[in-house]
Amino acid sequence: MKPRIFLTRELPPEAMKRLRDEVELEMNTEDRVLSKAEIIEGVKGRDALLCLLTDEIDADVMDANRDLKVIANYAVGFNNIDVAAATERGIPVTNTPGVLTDTTADTAFALIMAAARRIVEGDGLVRTGRWKGWGPLELLGLDIHGATLGLIGFGRIGRAVARRARGFDMKILYWNRTRLSESEERELGVTYAGFEEVLAHADFVSLNVAFNDETRHLIGTKELETMRGTSFLINTARGPVVDEKALVHALRQGGIAGAGLDVYEREPEIEPELLEMKNVVLLPHLGSATIATRTKMGMMAIDNLLAALRGEPIPNLVNKEVFASK
Ligand code: GLV
Ligand code: GLV
Repeated sequence: MKPRIFLTRELPPEAMKRLRDEVELEMNTEDRVLSKAEIIEGVKGRDALLCLLTDEIDADVMDANRDLKVIANYAVGFNNIDVAAATERGIPVTNTPGVLTDTTADTAFALIMAAARRIVEGDGLVRTGRWKGWGPLELLGLDIHGATLGLIGFGRIGRAVARRARGFDMKILYWNRTRLSESEERELGVTYAGFEEVLAHADFVSLNVAFNDETRHLIGTKELETMRGTSFLINTARGPVVDEKALVHALRQGGIAGAGLDVYEREPEIEPELLEMKNVVLLPHLGSATIATRTKMGMMAIDNLLAALRGEPIPNLVNKEVFASK
């Protein structure tokens, strides 16, 4: 008998084909985020839940089906799931690390370049017929090559951003909870610095931390004040890592020069003032959005889900303690 899965939204075609072949699928066929009540209805009678970062999966969802055997998240971040509640109930939670690292780092770099070189503004100028021809003072930006990149968080994605920055001859400072060995630092061409030091010296501060209680509002008024007036803040991590109101304030006051954002504190809502600012580039949370990467994420989520259902070792288990506690 095929396992019964509830999927909260359609995935790329290859992943869908595999699901249709290997499981008994029930899914949301509408192109929208489900309500919690709909997810609760959906998991009833199912063996597993395949969900997205836009789905809030809490104890109410888990209690709606005491036989749920695994929650497979289609994302590397899993702050949308109450992992402690899952562990208490003996439910393994999985994520999709690794496969989206380079794609997300590409997005961070695209934001650095678009913000510093005023790409979106320039495109707007041309498109709206306001461009009058080359001008010596038109849309002057900031050099990326030779500038200092400050990485806040130095996991897989932070390191991948650093690798790109080396090609642009950037000076790279990083801050992380744990420091790398000297040989690793040398190999990557990066210098460890204190949190405030990174903020104070970087021309571009890129946020690459996981979101959790410790990183909520990691960047607020004080941190934005520490940054240089000529610097840019780049966020491809999670919105609530930044106090968005404090960011608006800093941008308005000229406390920092600009920002490149892929994520927001209350998605899909955005602080309305950001929409009016020319010095910010705003993306709709598409860090991992390529066909290849979204397909790999799908395959990985399915591998995790099937392994859990078969009682095999789970490749990307978030709550390892779930087995210790049984
Ligand atoms: C994307 O934001 C992810 O966590 O995969
Ligand atoms: C994300 O998975 C990271 O470790 O940076």
